[in-house]
Amino acid sequence: MFTQELLQYALAPRAVVYEPRTGSTNDDAIHWLLEGAPEGAVVIADEQTKGRGRLGRQWVAPPGGALLLSVILRPPRELLTRMSMVGALAVTDMIESYDVTGVDIKWPNDVRIGGRKVSGVLPEAAWEGDRLLGVALGIGVNLNIDFTNAPFPQPATSLGTVLDTQVNRVEALKRLLRRIDHWAQRIGDDGLFAAWHVRLGLGMRATVQQSDSVLVGIAEDAEPDGTLLLRTDDGVLHRVRAGDLLPTPN
Ligand code: BTN
Repeated sequence: MFTQELLQYALAPRAVVYEPRTGSTNDDAIHWLLEGAPEGAVVIADEQTKGRGRLGRQWVAPPGGALLLSVILRPPRELLTRMSMVGALAVTDMIESYDVTGVDIKWPNDVRIGGRKVSGVLPEAAWEGDRLLGVALGIGVNLNIDFTNAPFPQPATSLGTVLDTQVNRVEALKRLLRRIDHWAQRIGDDGLFAAWHVRLGLGMRATVQQSDSVLVGIAEDAEPDGTLLLRTDDGVLHRVRAGDLLPTPN
């Protein structure tokens, strides 16, 4: 497990709060953000009791098996939708720094190795009226978890499983934060979108489940703000802002 002293030393001069056990690091980060946390400050937990995923789902990880963190950032409002690209790309880069191949991004921001989910990203914003105060960029990365026989609807894996070794969590965290800093500083650049776009598995037949509808068609492309373009079988092009992409047979 981490300790506050260890993380403070390893991540200096970054502001860091370590929680052995918390509800959700995103909640803690939003709270800290509202109290004036500095840019790049990070909340890290060994365990979450109310970890959140996208679309109202839970995010569950055994204590100490994953990186569970939220980074406080204050992007310009018009680039808010790119926050999840920053997170997904940073995770991708971190994983590839271990010479892992077969890493891709499943729209909008699941990171996979060989088609198995290894990480999820959940940016949550804090507002004062229509003024964006900042974002908690929540990231969960499976590091040392054995998913054999795990009852998950989606196939999952962990970095340690792929490398067949125990991954040092402090080292992985340092690598990840370095890449978050890198991409967060480039959030407005064409290069950010290009790097994300090239890693998206596009062109396949897919079903998008939204809260109130289901669309089936070809995931044709994605736009610089992260919107997915899905062409349904009647030829209509749909702009999908949020949802879940499920692989679909022809
Ligand atoms: C997803 O794949 O649906 C997104 C998962 C995001 C999980 C991370 S873990 C750290 C942070 N705190 C949370 O409650 N959620 C995010």
